Amino acid sequence: EIDDVTIEYGNTVKYLRAHLPSYLAAPKLAIICGSGLGGLVNTIEQTKSSKIEFSYSEIPGFVKSTVEGHAGKLVFGLLGVNKMPVVCMVGRFHMYEGHTKEQVTLPIKIFKLLGIEVLIVTNAAGSLNSEFKVGNVVIIWDHISIPGISGNNPLAGPNQSQLGPRFPPMSDAYDFELRRTAFRAAASLKLEKGTVKEGTYCWVMGPSYETRAEAKFLNLIGGDVVGMSTVPEVVVARYCGIRVLGLSLVTNMVLTKKPRSADPEKNEPETIEVHPSHQEVLEASHASASMMQSLVKTIVEMIYR
Ligand code: 6GU
Repeated sequence: EIDDVTIEYGNTVKYLRAHLPSYLAAPKLAIICGSGLGGLVNTIEQTKSSKIEFSYSEIPGFVKSTVEGHAGKLVFGLLGVNKMPVVCMVGRFHMYEGHTKEQVTLPIKIFKLLGIEVLIVTNAAGSLNSEFKVGNVVIIWDHISIPGISGNNPLAGPNQSQLGPRFPPMSDAYDFELRRTAFRAAASLKLEKGTVKEGTYCWVMGPSYETRAEAKFLNLIGGDVVGMSTVPEVVVARYCGIRVLGLSLVTNMVLTKKPRSADPEKNEPETIEVHPSHQEVLEASHASASMMQSLVKTIVEMIYR
């Protein structure tokens, strides 16, 4: 008897398995590369024969990602000194592209069916926390899912009981041991003091950036960084029992101050402030890409030592 999950995802899994040599076919770890962080795949074992790439457009069930700085391919390869088989998403799917929550999280379910046990997700994020700086890495310890708690939880719909429970907890979504390992990796790389932070990631749908009032609200309710990705994948990964590590690279500081008053009586001076732009986000993430790559690679080496 064939179950629903096999019907829905069987072709995708079959396609990938059919094109993978046996030493790449059973990765235990998956990595999602955020904006400008796709260079990580270049640290994957260089010999051609040990790296297999699938463009999203060729994989049955996958949609095309449409954002600049998100190339859109799935790369299987061997990572680190101990040559661990891993699978890497270079470019991810976002709800703001018009994809459904099912399309955005399909890769995670495929990972589960391939035997993935650990997921490392990276993203570029804006900081709501004035103690953070551009170029800091935030080890995510919790999240606030604005779409999730207001009607767009990626798990809404009939439950796929072969994958996970109807009412999965999210209270310990970000694995303590993996977070500890991330700190150890940062220490072994001797990253500049203060580079690594811990914080709460707020997921907003996008694609517009936050207003000042929205940013202040997100900070007031406990958010440290804000971004348009990651949480749907994390929620589905936790649902499937995959352990998760989330890393945000701070690419810009978000304005949380009130706008300048136009009241002549108040006579507030004009200030020069930088507004978020995709350009700025990509530049900042490229500037820190090699640091993020070494960090992720070292974390993977430490997980499988
Ligand atoms: Cl400021 N906001 C959001 N929503 N996502 C971002 C960002 C800001 N900076 C990078 N990604």
